Amino acid sequence: FLLLFTLSLLCASTPIAATSEKLDPSPFPSNFLFGTASSSYQYEGAYLSDGKGLSNWDVFSHTPGNIDDGSNGDVAVDQYHRYLEDIDLMEDLGVNTYRFSISWARILPKGRFGKVNVAGINYYNRLIDALLLKGIQPFVTLSHFDFPQELEDIYGGWLSSQSQEDFQIFADICFKSFGDRVKHWITFNEPNLHLSLSYRKGIYPPSRCSPPFGNCTQGDSEREPFLAAHNIILSHAAAVDIYRTKYQSKQGGKIGIVLHIDWFEPFSNSTADKLATERAQAFTISWILDPLMFGKYPREMEMILGPILPKFSRIEKEKLKKGLDFIGINHYSSYYVQDCSSPACQDQPGTSRTEGLYRQTAERNGVPIGELTPFEWLVVYPQGMKKTVTYLKDRYNNTPIYITENGYGYSYDSNVWEKEYRNDITRINYLAGHLKNLAAAIREGVDVRGYFAWSLLDNFEWKYGRSVRFGLYNVDYDTLRRTPRSSATWYKNFIASHKTQS
Ligand code: NOJ
Repeated sequence: FLLLFTLSLLCASTPIAATSEKLDPSPFPSNFLFGTASSSYQYEGAYLSDGKGLSNWDVFSHTPGNIDDGSNGDVAVDQYHRYLEDIDLMEDLGVNTYRFSISWARILPKGRFGKVNVAGINYYNRLIDALLLKGIQPFVTLSHFDFPQELEDIYGGWLSSQSQEDFQIFADICFKSFGDRVKHWITFNEPNLHLSLSYRKGIYPPSRCSPPFGNCTQGDSEREPFLAAHNIILSHAAAVDIYRTKYQSKQGGKIGIVLHIDWFEPFSNSTADKLATERAQAFTISWILDPLMFGKYPREMEMILGPILPKFSRIEKEKLKKGLDFIGINHYSSYYVQDCSSPACQDQPGTSRTEGLYRQTAERNGVPIGELTPFEWLVVYPQGMKKTVTYLKDRYNNTPIYITENGYGYSYDSNVWEKEYRNDITRINYLAGHLKNLAAAIREGVDVRGYFAWSLLDNFEWKYGRSVRFGLYNVDYDTLRRTPRSSATWYKNFIASHKTQS
């Protein structure tokens, strides 16, 4: 049996050899960051410990029916108490960075009012110090979906322009407390995706939507995503402003934002489909990045949305000029894009005027763009990685890029999941394929400076709860024991082989 087991592990590790051979000599510069990514609500647990306030996700996940499997993040994977153990796992992997987010409600339990929670500051100090002791750089997100519930209740969160000042106050506290050791800051994680889920489809807190987009009882699906985005873009600018004026020259760090970026391929060679693809990119990528890079929303959005799209005042445009130092990309999937500007086409969800008049599909005439997976939105097309970073290089003047997330999620009840519970060969192939394409892009001159696998551990996957697993390490939710999957060994070898080559 032992012999068979060893043989099966050896077979599973075949892509390691294949990948490292192809990557010789390493295209990754010697200071390239290799890490894993996480977020506070998905990892920390300790949802009421040591003075933490409630976040919107604490409240949302406790409402029956919101999370597919009825789980919540009260304990999550308990990183709040197990961070030392997790840092040992990271050390073993050989990563030189760790991406995590700070829970706003742990630092300011009531959002802005009341006192700073010293116990919360101390937790992140301990985490940062323990990482640095092992040579692992903290890469820190200020806002990864969770938001103090108090601010939601008082003024409606991101829908209110008051959020800009409050985010700036929170960011200021973080820069002041941790900026002597944190050299990479991310203001927001995936606002482009999160705003649509929260304010158009109503499936993330604060559950706002309106028919025909969803069945919520409150909200205005047409306007609110754009209004919330406007406040988030200006909140980013406010945080960058304070970082640049008070901290950056002393602390010497960099600050950027992270977007969720799928690759979009025109469905056909027709001009209509090519223009639809440009609209898809405008409504998902340039929506957030153009204001920060060029001081205005993309032309496609202005033309289609008219007065629905908020405008930046002269003073706000000044604020936007502080821009960003890097673009973070969470890349997972690719899709075809088809024109949907005819009235007949617009009856279906995801195709309306306020969504850019295009239809996103994984298949063309029955043939998928990449491998479809049991997890509803995950489509495996590794070339999408190279195409995405090349697109961003061209549009945004080769601004430094970090791949802040990339990974493969197994749906809990799929046959593949059962078979690949520990020997996650499909995940290894996914990571290897995407890294190979990233390497090719770097060779061709795209300025990519780091890569973070999502995720170190299985964790709370938002509305899917625990039913989707992204971890290089399996988490047993009864004991919270972490056990390496084959992909952990694979990633470790990949990083080691890169180090010896560069
Ligand atoms: C992106 C999000 O940032 C992260 O929170 C989520 O778990 C992964 N994608 C996987 O869906």
